[in-house]
Formats: sequence, C-alpha cells, structure tokens
Amino acid sequence: MLHGKCIVLGVCGGIAAYKAADLASKLVKAGARVPVIMTEHATKFVAPLTFQTLTDQPVTTQMFDAPIHWNVEHISLAKQADAFVIVPATANIIGKIAGGIADDMLSTTVMAARCPVILAPAMNTGMYENPIVQRNMDLLKNLGYHIIMPATGHLACGDEGAGKLPEPLVLLEQIENILCLQKDLIGKRVLVTAGPTREFIDPVRYISNPSSGKMGYALARAAHMRGAEVTLVSGPVALQPPYGVQLCPVCSADEMYQAVMEQYQSHDIIIKAAAVGDFKSKHHYEHKCKKDQLQTIELEKNEDILRAICRNKEKRLVVGFCMETQDLLQYAYQKLLDKGADMIVANDLTAQEAGFQSDNNTVTIVYRDGRKEALDNMPKLTLAHAILDRCVNK
Ligand SMILES: Cc1cc2nc3c(=O)[nH]c(=O)nc-3n(C[C@H](O)[C@H](O)[C@H](O)COP(=O)(O)O)c2cc1C
Repeated sequence: MLHGKCIVLGVCGGIAAYKAADLASKLVKAGARVPVIMTEHATKFVAPLTFQTLTDQPVTTQMFDAPIHWNVEHISLAKQADAFVIVPATANIIGKIAGGIADDMLSTTVMAARCPVILAPAMNTGMYENPIVQRNMDLLKNLGYHIIMPATGHLACGDEGAGKLPEPLVLLEQIENILCLQKDLIGKRVLVTAGPTREFIDPVRYISNPSSGKMGYALARAAHMRGAEVTLVSGPVALQPPYGVQLCPVCSADEMYQAVMEQYQSHDIIIKAAAVGDFKSKHHYEHKCKKDQLQTIELEKNEDILRAICRNKEKRLVVGFCMETQDLLQYAYQKLLDKGADMIVANDLTAQEAGFQSDNNTVTIVYRDGRKEALDNMPKLTLAHAILDRCVNK
C-alpha cells in the first residue's frame, strides 16, 4: 500500500521522538520514500543523522538553510507528499497547526500540504488532558486532520495515563488504514473467523491444527481498512488483533459456534477463515490422564458452523474456506453446494510458500456457478483485499 508513496515524516521535540526513527525505518521497508522534517527541538532528542541514515533521504531542520534538492523547499515537499505524518506530535505543534502558525519548516510545510495529514500526539497526561490541547485536537479533527489516539500506560515522566505514543507497528498499521482509499465497506458489518480451535481431552492435552490465524486476521484488517465494522471471532493465536476490530476470543469449536451463532445475524458479510476442528473428544477428563488410562480417544463431530449460517443466510454473503491435500477444487465445489455458501476459498496445502503459518497464500476461489478463479501467490493482506473485492462486486 505504501509502495512508491512519498510520506513526509515530521518529528517534534518529545521524548517519544526515538520511536519515530523506528517508524521511519518501517515506512522505508514498506516501500515508501520518507523525507524527514525535524523541529529544532526534535534534534535535541534524536540526531538528524539517524533519520538520514534510516531513510537515505535528506533531513530538513532549518527553514533558511540552503535547499538540498528543492527550490522552495517547504512548498516542494508539501507538493511531493502523498501523506504527512507527524510523530510524535507535541502539544506545541498541535497548537501551532490549529492556530495557523507557520514559524518553522515543519509547521510551514504542513500549512502548504494538501495531502492527508496524520498526527500522533504524545505527551504527559496532564498536557494531553489540558482542555486547550483537547480543543485544538477537536478543531483539527473537524478540519479533516487525522489523529492517531495515544495509548494509555506508564509514561516516560513516571505518570500513568493517556498520552503514550503507540508502538511503531501500530502507527504503521493505522497510517495504512487512513491512506487506504478503498472505503467500499463503509456501513457494512463483517464477521471473520480465524485461527485454529482446541478440543481439550484433559487439562493438558488437546486436538488442534497448525492454523496461525494470519489469513483471518488479514481479512479482518483489510475489511476494517475499507471502512467496515468488523467482528473477529478468533481461536487461540499468537497475533495482535488488528486495530479497530472487535475481538471475540474463543478456544473450542463449540465456543466458536456459540460466538458466531450469537452474532452473525447482525453482519452483512461472513468470512469463515478459521480452521475449525471437525471432531472433539467425547470425554473431557477433569484431571490429567495417566499414560495407561488413555489408550484410545473416542471422537464425536463438532457442529458445522458454515452449514448452520447458510441455513439462515438470507441476503448475507457467506464465504467459506477449505484446505485439502488432493482433489482440492472438486471438494471445494462440493462443499459450496452442500453447505450453501456463496464462495469457497480453496487453499492448496501442497503449494509452495502458502497455507498454514505462511505470510503468503495461493488460493483458487470457487463460485456458485462453478467458476474457478486461480489467484497467484501473494501476501495474505493482498489476498484479503482480493477476496473482499470479490465480495463487494458480488
Ligand atoms: C525531556 C523533555 C521531554 C519532553 N517531552 C514532550 C512530549 O512528550 N510531548 C510534548 O508535547 N512536549 C514535550 N516536551 C516539551 C517540548 O519539547 C516543547 O513544548 C517544545 O517547545 C516542542 O517543540 P516542537 O513542537 O517545535 O518540537 C518535552 C520537553 C523536555 C525537555
């Protein structure tokens, strides 16, 4: 999403300025060109050389220095920017922008910018809660500036409270969300299931599968980026839930069934990316079984969540996933017809760089009319958007 984009990074004189260096590096790794403008006070916290080295771009700190590349530098940078990101945004810069003050390179360039401007405020809780700062942020929000809300926690000054700069990965995610131009899911509610389920046999043993949840989490994130209200029903995974989605954590297939049944009717699109266990142990032992106690495990079938949703599908769009090691497309189409879904995303477990745990996936989308659309191997977030494109155009 950021590939080839020019993201001008403004850095102010706050203690969190060091995190802006990590963000700069992440923006560069995401493919963006990142010219940096530092306020004079920012240079007291981090040296310009840090940003210059990380971004391989000139760092501007003074308004009246000889321009390195541009004739009228503040106008030129403002014109080149696809987005302007100010991290950390001090109470001072927020006040200056809100008050129309342009007295240094950063505030002057922001004034000239026509692109989206994103501010990530970070400051002591007392400063953050000051009504003047709050008023200035409200004013900027109403003018169309984007504010990334600070986190709450232990601050550098020793206080506990609001005003902490979110971690660079969270900042990057939110910048991508704001810059995502495709807002075709505004007003829609999307329910995504993700991850594996665990069927406990006794307190220390369970039946599960290697699903990482990456595909479902990418779908939830992509749907949120496109403006949807997203519920993510997730089995146990080691992933951070995407910013802005409603997480509903579950463990077993029964719990996932309950959570989905309680919620699916208030959603327009349901995407079942979870690898739900088909079977559970008939007996759940209260205490750990001894080796000779557990010779065989008697299994019983779990509820079929996809079938249950499709029974009362009405106008909802329902997308299922399937994974096979042979006759994939035949099984996928059979599953679609049998359960009544609109689409099945068929994962080929034998494909390279795809499937469980991988950051990429290779799938074929199977439609009700029998059409089969094979997609190239791609990152799961890109694939998530491709799947949502098909949902929107259905
Ligand atoms: C050690 C130290 C830490 C500071 N941290 C912050 C901060 O996190 N947020 C903030 O708004 N101001 C902070 N300030 C105050 C700003 O540096 C001050 O308001 C300055 O004028 C900001 O200038 P600038 O917005 O041009 O960078 C801090 C000051 C010092 C000395």
